[in-house]
Amino acid sequence: MAGGCGRCRVALCAAAAGLCAVAAALVAAMLLRAYAVRSPAVPRLWARSGGTAAFGADERLELREVLRGAIKIPTVSVSPEELNTTAMAEFGDYIRKVFPAVFSSKFIQHEIVGEHSHLFSVQGSDSGLQPYMLLAHMDVVPAPPEGWDFPPFSAAEHEGFIYGRGTLDNKNSAIGILQALEFLLRRNYKPRRSFYVGIGHDEEVFGRKGAVKIAALLEARGVKLSFLLDEGSAILDGIIAGVKKPVALIAVTEKGSITLNFTVEKEPGHSSFPPKETSIGILATAMSRLEQNPMRNLFGHGPELMTMEHLASEFSFPLNIIMSNLWLFSPIVSRVLASKPSTNALIRTTTAVTMFNAGIKLNVIPSSARATVNFRIHSAEKAMEVLETVRNTIADDRVKIDVVEAFDPLPISPWDEQTFGVHVLQRTILDTFPNVDSVVPGTCIGNTDSRHFTNVTNAIYRFNPVLLKPDDLPRIHGLNERISVESYEKQVEFLFQLIKNCDVDKLPEPHADSHEL
Ligand SMILES: *[C@@H]1O[C@H](CO)[C@@H](O)[C@H](O)[C@H]1NC(C)=O
Ligand SMILES: *[C@@H]1O[C@H](CO)[C@@H](O)[C@H](O)[C@H]1NC(C)=O
Ligand SMILES: *[C@@H]1O[C@H](CO)[C@@H](O)[C@H](O)[C@H]1NC(C)=O
Repeated sequence: MAGGCGRCRVALCAAAAGLCAVAAALVAAMLLRAYAVRSPAVPRLWARSGGTAAFGADERLELREVLRGAIKIPTVSVSPEELNTTAMAEFGDYIRKVFPAVFSSKFIQHEIVGEHSHLFSVQGSDSGLQPYMLLAHMDVVPAPPEGWDFPPFSAAEHEGFIYGRGTLDNKNSAIGILQALEFLLRRNYKPRRSFYVGIGHDEEVFGRKGAVKIAALLEARGVKLSFLLDEGSAILDGIIAGVKKPVALIAVTEKGSITLNFTVEKEPGHSSFPPKETSIGILATAMSRLEQNPMRNLFGHGPELMTMEHLASEFSFPLNIIMSNLWLFSPIVSRVLASKPSTNALIRTTTAVTMFNAGIKLNVIPSSARATVNFRIHSAEKAMEVLETVRNTIADDRVKIDVVEAFDPLPISPWDEQTFGVHVLQRTILDTFPNVDSVVPGTCIGNTDSRHFTNVTNAIYRFNPVLLKPDDLPRIHGLNERISVESYEKQVEFLFQLIKNCDVDKLPEPHADSHEL
């Protein structure tokens, strides 16, 4: 994940504990009435089917060693211009070696795109079924070894964990998808539904050479996907305060972004007879106005509301009552969410002043001052609206504004009974993870390669089938990134099962006795 998508799994709820206290008094008074007006249940269409792929001991050893081998290749991307292309080429050779069935299959076409990214086109036997796509990336953010318990490219195994940069973000997916396909092919599996596997090589630095080109290629070929699965969220275990059981959170959108440069130019001069205002003072005032006037709270206007509604009954008392009655409690919930940075990011466009520079000498009034601000845009706003609001907030023509980069939030993917991708993901999660009961939609506050695929599908889902505990979050892009061997086995099992489940062509009717999801 780029730009801190790590944090999107925090999704809601660090602040929920605070909610308890704030709302307890209100709840007591409203309890009976409120309980009678619960939000409607969302039916679960798939019952748990039970049987999943059990891999043999040899296969389990193999999948673990194959991941470790991939972690050892330092496929680091620092900037669009600075990629370790030697390592990326090595990664290409490596997958050819460890996935022989994938590379020799008659119905799989392999292409190199943008020099180091990979596109696999898997031809299904039934051309009437709309294809889907599994997306991942091989590149990783830099990992200086200082502070790691084991060197970041050693893939050391310790107490059931494999350590290394890329174990969660995102070689576990890149290798996991190909591993699942390899195991299926060795069982003489032949898909009915066609699908694509895309492995980008510059996701961490915008994806322009990899994912953008893969998407353009598919578009040029007239491909329309029934859905696309990428990284960007996970199974959250103990991360949403007030919810005991692990929750599979599938991100149905990701935030947009706009970065602005601010410049103030003034006559330079000597500090012995300064003007009333300097470029520094003017710019500092402008930045302070932006911080003092955050963009508006949009709770209720984006998928964060769906997350709460779908999870309502999973919260412990009294949060379950509160979340089931957002018609009543939404003002309190939104204020509590706003009180912590991790949840504030879900409900509004955030403002981060990231650079500020001026001055060259202690007795010289500087001729210019510069600042840079990065805004991450809530799904209910657009980049140009943010720019307009910023102009009005600063309300000072002496501050020049330049747009460094901008893109709108991603469209919200469908989340309903008619959508094939939603059903097949729900079913596969329930099949593979017996202790997970809730599959809910949410927002990814960072960015992924999937954002480049909006012209080939409107159904983009961001979900990495791994169980994350609170302790795992800072490891992504941080120190001691690791995955448990058990989690990785589960991930491969999930992908194996997902590919098989995608061969169904008709969704069953909902059962009258279906449980709430
Ligand atoms: C790039 O990757 C190669 C291995 O493929 C490695 O030997 C080399 O040290 C890496 N370069 C940097 C700057 O990390
Ligand atoms: C914005 O500011 C940064 C830092 O000063 C600079 O590197 C960049 O070139 C500027 N971009 C634009 C479009 O002004
Ligand atoms: C989608 O297609 C439009 C129109 O051809 C194009 O302008 C846009 O850049 C494309 N979007 C992506 C993400 O490729």
